[in-house]
Amino acid sequence: MRQSSLVVVANRLPLDDNAAMDGACEWRRSPGGLSSALHAILEQTPATWVGWGGSIGGARELPDIGSLRLRPMALSEDEMRGYYEGFANSTLWPLYHDAVEQPVFDRGWWETYRTVNQRFAEAAAEVAEPGAAIWVQDYHLQLVPQLLRELRPDVRIGFFLHVPFPPPELFMQLPRRVELLRGMLGADLVGFQRPQAAHNVAQLATKLLGGHGGDEEIMLDGRTIRTGAFPVSIDVAEMRSLSARPYVVNQARQLRRDLGTHKRVLLSVDRLDYTKGIEHRLTAYSELLRDGRVKVRDVVMVQVAVPSRERVESYRSLRDRIEGEVGRINGEYGRVGEPAIHYLNQPFDRADLTALYQTADVMVVTPLRDGMNLVAKEFVAARRDDTGALVLSEFAGAAAELEDAFLVNPHDVDGLKETLLRALAADASELSARMKAMRAHITSHDIHAWARAYLTALDETGRLAQHLP
Ligand code: ADP
Ligand code: G6P
Repeated sequence: MRQSSLVVVANRLPLDDNAAMDGACEWRRSPGGLSSALHAILEQTPATWVGWGGSIGGARELPDIGSLRLRPMALSEDEMRGYYEGFANSTLWPLYHDAVEQPVFDRGWWETYRTVNQRFAEAAAEVAEPGAAIWVQDYHLQLVPQLLRELRPDVRIGFFLHVPFPPPELFMQLPRRVELLRGMLGADLVGFQRPQAAHNVAQLATKLLGGHGGDEEIMLDGRTIRTGAFPVSIDVAEMRSLSARPYVVNQARQLRRDLGTHKRVLLSVDRLDYTKGIEHRLTAYSELLRDGRVKVRDVVMVQVAVPSRERVESYRSLRDRIEGEVGRINGEYGRVGEPAIHYLNQPFDRADLTALYQTADVMVVTPLRDGMNLVAKEFVAARRDDTGALVLSEFAGAAAELEDAFLVNPHDVDGLKETLLRALAADASELSARMKAMRAHITSHDIHAWARAYLTALDETGRLAQHLP
């Protein structure tokens, strides 16, 4: 068994399952923030990534990607239902996102979640060399840190939550709140997107586990756990180099011609998820059309909504509602050869996504709750000049960093409409000032800075521990 000094454990491997039939393994990113973020730092790092390949049943061996080894995990049909679709995506995901969709508490799912977490912990323990760092990712694997501590007391354990951590009154609804909190606090370092999350966890650790401490350190069972905010980011250099590629530049020009050179383009790019506020923005756009405040001859919307978690009922019904609404808006306001919305329910490769970002006049990012939202950062990085406006929900983690976006409360449809109009009407000097400030921020806070900050902090927990009596 080959072992690594850095092991990443995430529910999903960063590539599509069908990429490895003939042994030729192509790095094809699965859509989603976690995969986008970690891909950038791990492609060149000697490490092992433990995760699920995306299909049901046995796991095939996968060849290395550069210096990164892949350790695929199998999930059975029952595990998919109980662990991934059930506890992770029908209980934790909605609850952690402010319960914008009702979380389901199904007692049967818990046991499966626990069993799968145990298997991931065992696999990680197997591939970690003595004294290694093991970095566990996200809400699917919240029990893994504690399980790993029991299996491998010699390793340093990091946990990073890509999604929001909810306020205590919401977390308290969870029937398995004690186990989940204790599981996560098995780590030496627990990282979040926002400082508020660390605050929430400190309060819960006191209330539920009898720990003590504050927003940076929690003392529990004779151990010190470091906590803190490490806002995740994107590979700015990769986006820049993509955006300068002749293919991308030509593709952006072509898209512009196809959409109508004289038109203003509103663009949204999301996984098709109820947290993304897609319906709220469609309502705002539709009302602007209804009231004649925007006209189909002047403005067009492009909504990219990549399929996601399609076996979960709330995702299926969301898709039906969105597709119905897009059809209604096009039916009412579109003209022959001139739809009000182009709706694209498909994955895009990075180059085509970058070309789309370059085509937009206004990027509309309106999640009701989002840990970070990397799409907003990708849009800024993909622009080669200082044109373009970003309309961004206050409820995305990214809003704390991209303060020069047109910030908006997506629940306030009237406010959203006014903000869209303001962004459409903003003059070039205002847009340029906003874009410059946002670009400067992401340039100094890119994915490499994030990984460095996190892994340095994790390393320091080891050094601190050595100095303890
Ligand atoms: P989430 O993590 O909730 O999916 P983020 O905005 O943080 O939201 O990350 C989404 C990631 O998925 C981004 O890196 C984005 O480029 C990628 N993505 C979104 N839509 C598509 C698509 N249609 N095809 C390919 N990648 C996509
Ligand atoms: C979010 C989560 C990730 C997840 C991604 C895509 O970014 O934080 O953990 O991988 O969505 O979702 P999926 O269910 O397809 O893995």
